[in-house]
Amino acid sequence: KFSVLIAGGGSTYTPGIVLTLLDHLDKFPLRALKFYDIDGDRQQKVADACEILVKERAPEVEFVSTTDPETAFTDVDFVMAQIRVGKYAMRSVDEKIPLRHGVVGQETTGPGGIAYGLRSIPGVIGLVDYMEKYSPNAWMLNYSNPAAIVAEATRRLRPNSKIINICDMPIGIMDRMAAIVGLKDRNDLVFRYYGLNHFGWWTDVRDKTGKDLMPQLKEYVAQHGYWLGDADKGTEASWVSTFKKAADVYALDPSTLPNTYLKYYLYPQYVVEHADPNYTRTDEVEAYREKNVFTECARIKTAGTAKDTNFKSDDHATYIVDLCTAIAYDTKQRMLAIIPNEGAIANIDPEAMVEVPCLFGANGPERLAMGNAATFQKGLITEQNCVEKLVVDAYEQQSYTKLWEAMSLCKIVPDAKVAKDILDEMIPANQEYWPEL
Ligand code: G6P
Ligand code: MN
Repeated sequence: KFSVLIAGGGSTYTPGIVLTLLDHLDKFPLRALKFYDIDGDRQQKVADACEILVKERAPEVEFVSTTDPETAFTDVDFVMAQIRVGKYAMRSVDEKIPLRHGVVGQETTGPGGIAYGLRSIPGVIGLVDYMEKYSPNAWMLNYSNPAAIVAEATRRLRPNSKIINICDMPIGIMDRMAAIVGLKDRNDLVFRYYGLNHFGWWTDVRDKTGKDLMPQLKEYVAQHGYWLGDADKGTEASWVSTFKKAADVYALDPSTLPNTYLKYYLYPQYVVEHADPNYTRTDEVEAYREKNVFTECARIKTAGTAKDTNFKSDDHATYIVDLCTAIAYDTKQRMLAIIPNEGAIANIDPEAMVEVPCLFGANGPERLAMGNAATFQKGLITEQNCVEKLVVDAYEQQSYTKLWEAMSLCKIVPDAKVAKDILDEMIPANQEYWPEL
């Protein structure tokens, strides 16, 4: 039986992960479930509800919620890292500063993602160090964002650590693909995919019999993107627009199917024109997800039972459980991860952190070879990967110049002057978090 630590226990994703873990105890049995956060008050609210949930559904599982790293990281097998350094207050700043300069303001993309990257690096490295100190045999599944920059930082700064960087966006899209062709879920698909995190393409999608599903998927995506029509009722407006916009992204390269995040890089003007600099995604998340989760946590605490909870497990969480299971039982399941390229995409820098399918087993991920990136993709990937590398250079060297270069190279920033203006506003806003430049 396994001991799992959720680092970033106060996250609104935590209840969904707990539910998924409880739903899968038959294939991934637990002896302990632990929460760790540096914000004890926030975590307590989630923990109070989750403790009730665990006690009712699996009383044999020990439940611990703590702000003490030693208590948290001692005797664990898997660490699920989902921290947000600076919380939503700083996400809001990441989104709003660029927008004031007419540039896309987004959590992981462009200047916002770069700013968040510099905040996340020391946070995630700190978690890796705790894990190595207190549970050296454990694995960390990291989905703290921006995953691309965090992954490059861990590759460089902690090259031997047992950290696996992952993302739920492609798997969410693959569940959509399965729905489009009338299959149950992503596990019914066999796929080839390559790129960087939040920056990749499917080159092949089949069902288990080998039937090529690309023609049917392309026909659908050309018209609707990944939007599922009626089945998408209840999906928040900004996500609906993202799923629909995939049609325009697809149009640029009809030989592949794109990740939704490419809309920010390929249609930045459209994104800015449709953004409200005074009400960004953060405001939406605070009004919906944050409010719903904390209201439900408080309700469970007052009721003293979680039997009637409206918390749901999400695909993000089932992916994490699948991964833990694959490592724990050496299943060699094929899943995406962000790992050093080392030839997986033949014509891309071997040291780039790329997102490709891997076979997951007891020794972690074994990358699969995806062949060459096409010219269009090679150009985009190379540029974006250099942006990510420059951010980590800036962090390591505490270099203003490297950071300015990163922002200037970034495809969605029009020129070096705009990059500098944005950077000069971001520095004081991030004073508490960034290294001194
Ligand atoms: C996708 C991405 C995550 C990202 C999230 C943002 O799931 O894969 O990396 O954090 O979107 O979603 P939100 O609802 O917070 O805007
Ligand atoms: Mn992601």
